[in-house]
This record gives sequence, structure tokens and C-alpha cells, in this order.
Amino acid sequence: MTSEFEKVSAAADFVRARIRTVPSLAVVLGSGLGPFADKLSGAEVFPYGEIPHFPQSTVPGHSGRMVVGEIHGVPLAVMQGRVHGYEGYSPQEVAFPIRVLGLLGVKALVVTNAAGGIRMDLKQGDLVLISDHINFTQRNPVAGRHEEAFGPRFFDLTEAYSRRLRSLAARTAQDLGISLPEGVYLCVTGPSFETPAEIRAFRALGADLVGMSTVQEVIAARQMSIEVLGISCVTNMAAGIQSEPLSHEEVIETGQRVAQRFTSFLTALLPVLHQESVKA
Ligand code: HPA
Repeated sequence: MTSEFEKVSAAADFVRARIRTVPSLAVVLGSGLGPFADKLSGAEVFPYGEIPHFPQSTVPGHSGRMVVGEIHGVPLAVMQGRVHGYEGYSPQEVAFPIRVLGLLGVKALVVTNAAGGIRMDLKQGDLVLISDHINFTQRNPVAGRHEEAFGPRFFDLTEAYSRRLRSLAARTAQDLGISLPEGVYLCVTGPSFETPAEIRAFRALGADLVGMSTVQEVIAARQMSIEVLGISCVTNMAAGIQSEPLSHEEVIETGQRVAQRFTSFLTALLPVLHQESVKA
């Protein structure tokens, strides 16, 4: 039987053989935030279907390609679109692209997502720095047959979202005059949105944001000692906070509305992260 490590290695070898510069930084773009990838220069583009064993996104708003190129001279791998548990993928499949990035040599990962705002002071369109997460899916990408090549079986998540990277992000946002509150992200499986009672329960648990992605990726990244920065875009207030029903269209529309601010922020932040990860 082919091990997960062999599959991930085959995918990483495929990409490595086709790129000029191996990036030490990577970004995963969430719903509606994909246009950032178009900013890269000298880009090599890999539709997920061309990379061996890569899972493929089936969701509108997630185009499904890895773009390796540069932004302001910073070499970068961008995942334009991701796969989710609600598409029927296992946590291990959801984490597959992150493991590929890890084997390629990525040291720091910026994960972005669309989220519902639970905390009352958040507003539709806000960008929020993820300070921690609650894995409400109760599933884990490293459960199952242990493969030490990805890292230890038992590992710490006390600082899943790097304090160091968060303070660099906060400083960059301040320089740009962008407000960037912090919040705890709770991950559900979806794809149905939550009920108002669930949202009240999640608030009582300490969640500020709710979404359907990211935590499996972050767990896999931390096993490989990749430093993580997480940014949510509040595409809607969570169920029951406002009177209108929630929809995927609203999620995509808000993502598109925020895309320019989000792109300016990332464009300013990535050179800072690059410089600091070279130093680290
Ligand atoms: N709930 C879950 N996932 C989401 C939401 C939401 O309200 N908005 C965007 N992704």
C-alpha cells in the first residue's frame, strides 16, 4: 500500500521539478479571496488536477490551482482554493496540500477563510486575526496510521497561531490604517449554516468566528513545525444575529467586496513575513 508520505512526496516532487524558486512562504486563499493569486509575477500555475494525488475543489469561489511566483520579489506559493470536509474529503485529504507545501520547504503559512461573525462587535467585511481555534469537527488529520516523517504523533497546539507572526500582522495593519481585531475561530463540518441556538452555544464556548475550513490545515502544518498566521474575513454575521437568512452568495459577494483591502494588506505583509522568516 502506498503510504501518505509517498503520495505527498510524489506531489511535492512534481511541483519542485517545475519551479525556479522554492518558496519559504505560502498562502491559502479562502472563499472569494482568490483574486490575490493574480497579483503574482513570473507565476507557474498548477491546476490541482495535474498534481499527483492532489484533492480537487468542487465549490464555486474556489478555483483549485497552486500558483508559485513572486510578489514584490518575495517567492511565494499560493493555494487558490482548498477542499473541505463537507465535500466528502477526509481530514487527511484536506491537509494533503499543506503537507506538500511542508515537504517543499515552506516555513510559514498564511491561511485565510470566510467566516461568520459571532462576537457582536465584529462587522460584515472585517478582517480578523485568528488567535486560536476550536476544532468542533472532532476530526483530526493526523489520526490514523502514524507517519513520523510528517512529525511527532503528539504535538503541542498552545500557540497554533504564531504570536510572533500575529504581532507582525498587527503592526502592518496599523501602518496601513486597517483595523484587525483578534478572534477565536470555531470550525464546523457544514455545509449547512448553523442554527441560532448553535451560534449562542458557540459564543458561550468562547468562539468569535465560525467557519468550515482551516483547522485541519493548521493542525497538519503545526505537526510539521510550520509557523501559522490565520486571517478570517467576516463575510456575514452568524445565524440569528441579523434577520436575513445566510447564503453562499453573500459569502462570495462580501469576499469580493473586501478583496482589494485584503490584497493590499497581504501585499504589505508578505515581504515583512519573508524578511522575518529569513531572520528566524
Ligand atoms: N458559518 C459557517 N461558515 C461560514 C459562515 C458562517 O456563517 N460564513 C462563512 N463561512
